[in-house]
Amino acid sequence: MKITLYSAQPYDCRSFDEVLASHFPDAELEFVYQEASLNLHTVALADKSDAVCVFVNDQLDADVLEALAAQGVRAIVLRCAGFNNIDLEAAHRLGLFVARVPAYSPEAVAEHALAMIMTLNRKTHRAFNRVREGNFALDGLLGVTLHGKTAGVVGTGRIGLCMARILQGLGCEVLGYDPYPSEAFKAFGEMVPLEALLARADIVSLHCPLTEQTHHLIDAKALAGMKPGAMLVNTSRGALIDTPAVVEALKSRHLGALAIDVYEQESELFFHDHSAEIITDDVFARLASFPNVLITGHQGFFTVEALAEIAQVTCANLLAFAEGLECPNRL
Ligand code: NAI
Repeated sequence: MKITLYSAQPYDCRSFDEVLASHFPDAELEFVYQEASLNLHTVALADKSDAVCVFVNDQLDADVLEALAAQGVRAIVLRCAGFNNIDLEAAHRLGLFVARVPAYSPEAVAEHALAMIMTLNRKTHRAFNRVREGNFALDGLLGVTLHGKTAGVVGTGRIGLCMARILQGLGCEVLGYDPYPSEAFKAFGEMVPLEALLARADIVSLHCPLTEQTHHLIDAKALAGMKPGAMLVNTSRGALIDTPAVVEALKSRHLGALAIDVYEQESELFFHDHSAEIITDDVFARLASFPNVLITGHQGFFTVEALAEIAQVTCANLLAFAEGLECPNRL
């Protein structure tokens, strides 16, 4: 089976090659790595492929799916958990097999959220630069003790549960909000309505998927309902927050700090080196100018273990499709 793997980075090629050699030596899976992301202009790269393998910023709207199907592509395998970037209705109408990797080291994402909270709170990113320049002054590096603070977890699924466990370990009082509450969360904290969570939490961490219901979940109204000076953390999907509203909340100093690993318009920027270019996204540039904003480029998942898991599950999904077997990760 020939598979065109879009948005291929060197680490994708390495992890897929290693997993194929170590776990699937006899499998007839031939990956063709394409650096380009998938959109209507790059569909032709998958010509004569049986399947395409895609990531978070590849576009899989109805037009792209129709073009893929017309070329003979029969399967789409997402090497990510979120599937907000695919028109599933169109895919099903076209008879395409679609599968994802539902969980790859949820701890990895929660640990990255923790790293962002710790960095932003104790300003270690600024301390690192200061000390390298021989500046040992502490003014401007003041943080708060997290022990005893209240932390809110929005979305108590796989990653949210890991986050709740970590926050409990720090000695925080943990609140959770989820329209489908999980029993497991009760071991770490109290489930409350979203408004109560926002009003009480010193740290709000988002761990829900991007859907029609969660689009701009954190808008101007939600921000106004947050505790003054609170920290907002988003490692899930950029469009969970209304970014211009967040900029206003930072400017008015109502929002105390922001940590984001995802950004609504990230497909224009993330995963590529733009360091020698002019960035024309003014909202992003404004965000990057705040001393109390920490941005990383969608690296929450990026651990050795998670990359291996992604490659293994993706190959297993492809083999299930090829052999007509039941696939638990099918969408
Ligand atoms: P999950 O499906 O295990 O949990 C999501 C939870 O969100 C579920 O409990 C669900 O009931 C809840 N939820 C649904 N609608 C909600 C709403 N309106 N308000 C609050 N909660 C709601 O998903 P998992 O594995 O925990 O992943 C969460 C998200 O993290 C993914 O959808 C993905 O967008 C993001 N992610 C980010 C990564 C990164 O590298 N930064 C890597 C992997 C996932």
